[in-house]
Amino acid sequence: MCGIIGYIGNRSAAPILMSGLRRLEYRGYDSAGIALVSNGAVRVHKAAGKLFQLEAVLPKRLGGKLGIGHTRWATHGAPSDVNAHPHVSADGSIAVVHNGIVENSPALRARLEAEGVEFASETDTEIIAHLIARQEEQPIEQRVRDALALVQGTYGIAVVDSTRPDCVVIARKGSPVIIGIGDREMFVASDVAALVRHTRQVVHLDDGEVAVVDSRGYRTMTMDARPISKSPATVEWEDDAYERDGHRHFMYKEILDQPEAIDRTLGGRLDRQFHTAHLGGLNLEPGELLDVKRVKLLGCGSAYYAGITGAHLIESLARIPASAEPAAEFRYRNPVIERDTLYIAVSQSGETIDTLMAVQEVRRSGGRVLGIVNVVGSSIAREADGGIYMHAGPEVAVASTKAYTCSLVALALLALQLGRTRDLSPEQGRRLVEAMERLPADIEAALATEPLVKAIALRFAHCTSAFYIGRGAAFPIALEGAQKLKEISYIHAEAYPASELKHGPLALVDSRIPTVAALPHDALLDKSISSMEEVRARSGPVIALTHPGDERIAERADAVIEVPRTEDVLNPVVMAVPLQLFAYHCALALGRHIDQPRNLAKSVTVE
Ligand code: AGP
Repeated sequence: MCGIIGYIGNRSAAPILMSGLRRLEYRGYDSAGIALVSNGAVRVHKAAGKLFQLEAVLPKRLGGKLGIGHTRWATHGAPSDVNAHPHVSADGSIAVVHNGIVENSPALRARLEAEGVEFASETDTEIIAHLIARQEEQPIEQRVRDALALVQGTYGIAVVDSTRPDCVVIARKGSPVIIGIGDREMFVASDVAALVRHTRQVVHLDDGEVAVVDSRGYRTMTMDARPISKSPATVEWEDDAYERDGHRHFMYKEILDQPEAIDRTLGGRLDRQFHTAHLGGLNLEPGELLDVKRVKLLGCGSAYYAGITGAHLIESLARIPASAEPAAEFRYRNPVIERDTLYIAVSQSGETIDTLMAVQEVRRSGGRVLGIVNVVGSSIAREADGGIYMHAGPEVAVASTKAYTCSLVALALLALQLGRTRDLSPEQGRRLVEAMERLPADIEAALATEPLVKAIALRFAHCTSAFYIGRGAAFPIALEGAQKLKEISYIHAEAYPASELKHGPLALVDSRIPTVAALPHDALLDKSISSMEEVRARSGPVIALTHPGDERIAERADAVIEVPRTEDVLNPVVMAVPLQLFAYHCALALGRHIDQPRNLAKSVTVE
């Protein structure tokens, strides 16, 4: 969603802001802008649309060694030039960029209008600029704090003041802002991607914190002006990890990255001596692991589907009752929080608002939460009691691929460790450890199906609807396969447990609707083959995703994609890959915006 970048130092700010905004494009946006402070004035340039449209309105010469920039994903007010950020106060002295939502904006707007303020835009953010400008003459950080005290909602903001060309002020409540420490220059951003080109030393603000950043350092404080000291952390990734490496799309690069990414998720965490996993970041003693009576997994979208697989893994391997629930539903239904339930939040970005709020709800009620997160230092990672980093590497494409499979691997490691503290035998543990070690090679083999998958995609890319079916552990394979297809190709796709077909959806099956059937060779294979027959009997084309060695499937399916067989509980990892490739090649054939599909953002940080 929206992105923030800011710079103060000795270099010209504009090119740094523009390159930072380019790095934030992946989050999804519909307008962009920058504000530069020079010669005692704030100059704002902004435009609806993409960055090239902003570039088109930028003057050739742009002064200023202090500035802020923003990519906006419209919430209050349509995407337009005037609604783009930065927003300025009526006197032109204050410019603000903001991620989040001012929930009491109607009341604040009415109050400011009653005082004679004329608004230039329909946005909630403009309110913040006017509120700061109308505070008494005090230090800028005090004015920002006083203004924010009136704001209900969420914000990550960066503020510049024409009368203070020596600093940028940032504040956070519910939406991330970080400081990047350079050599006699400083950066601010909502996402490390925007500043990692310049520095890997960062300071994460926590909720309720404000910082004054100048070219040589920063001061951090609470909203009630108490100074606090914060230590820098080192960003895990170099700038080139955010490049496409010559591939046409980030999504494709990220699909190919998976063997290495999974290797990193596993790195040093498997124990061949005791046939278990060691997850240092759980912050749970073996005795505490034994006390876990239930597991509840929370996430949104594909992270929720990963949670469904995680629940299956944990229930199968550790025999602990486990279930998954969409984080947004969980947080609003006044859930019973139990001390002996282990809550697990799954999130690539670590910033998804509903997942973050669910984590806060659990912790507020005394529950214990682990985070399975990719972005180091992200909000969920810092709010959780412990967790597992995926180490998937930066995921830029909106459609999650490597973070999805890496989250499954992280969950498999956790299930193994939980299992081995209980009844999972050393022999079962040994088989799982070996199967996990083979996963990168199995994924390579799954990637090698690409020419076949591409040919199948070209055959079916023009269908208007598709079904995905699977049973047991294969049901979330179907859910995630359908998710990938719909989000990047815009083909309507529905996933069902194969057993549900005849309870309704079969009415729709005909020769125009392909069914992708996930058919791992597990205990439910015969039943799944029967479901495939039901589809065939209605002339529905079937694309079977399976392992080599069962003639019945080849005889009945229109197309067969075979991946190596692994331990049953790990099939969802390997089988995700051809479905990612299928969605990718359908979307490519249809000329879609694969990395930034319409209406979607990489990380959903507002409700
Ligand atoms: C995945 O392809 C989607 N773009 C989306 O469902 C995503 O998984 C979801 O928004 C959760 O994001 P998170 O993992 O960053 O929390």
